[in-house]
Amino acid sequence: MIHKNTLLITAVLLSTVTAATAQNPETLFDNKCGICHVKTKPADMSSLMAPPLMGVMRHVKMKYPTKEQAVPFMVDYVLQPSKTKAVCMPQKIQRFGLMPSQKGNVTKTELEAITAWMYDNFPPADFKGGQGRGMGMKGKM
Ligand code: HEC
Repeated sequence: MIHKNTLLITAVLLSTVTAATAQNPETLFDNKCGICHVKTKPADMSSLMAPPLMGVMRHVKMKYPTKEQAVPFMVDYVLQPSKTKAVCMPQKIQRFGLMPSQKGNVTKTELEAITAWMYDNFPPADFKGGQGRGMGMKGKM
């Protein structure tokens, strides 16, 4: 019995913690986007389900350099992805397929917070370009 109560209390505590941190954009990203978009380049690229976050942001910023352009583009794309809007390389869509719409999984307000955080933090300053091909944007962002 004691054991059961302990579990219950733990569960309640955990859900409180989750609710308290839900507004943190990085936590939102981890919960809503992180399943597919990894934040660090994995050793094994073949296990990826989607382009890593730094690659996504590098391409978004090539087409939409300012935050005022990039954030609305991403908010729209995540809810209504399409081949004609995509800024990533066509090979990516061939490999991973078009991103499934996240409508219902994430709200517009959450997306605004998530994509602003993505814009501010990615690609990281020391990012040297995708898959080691030396397309360095180092220091330019
Ligand atoms: C089920 C897997 C999955 C989830 C979850 C997911 N994505 Fe994606 N995303 C993809 C794939 C695959 C692509 C590459 C193909 C494409 O661009 O449509 C992509 C591409 C993108 C792009 C680049 C769009 C472009 O112009 O090509 C952005 C920006 C993006 N995702 C943001 C997000 C955000 C923000 C979230 C969380 C709210 C998210 N994604 C959740 C799979 C996912």
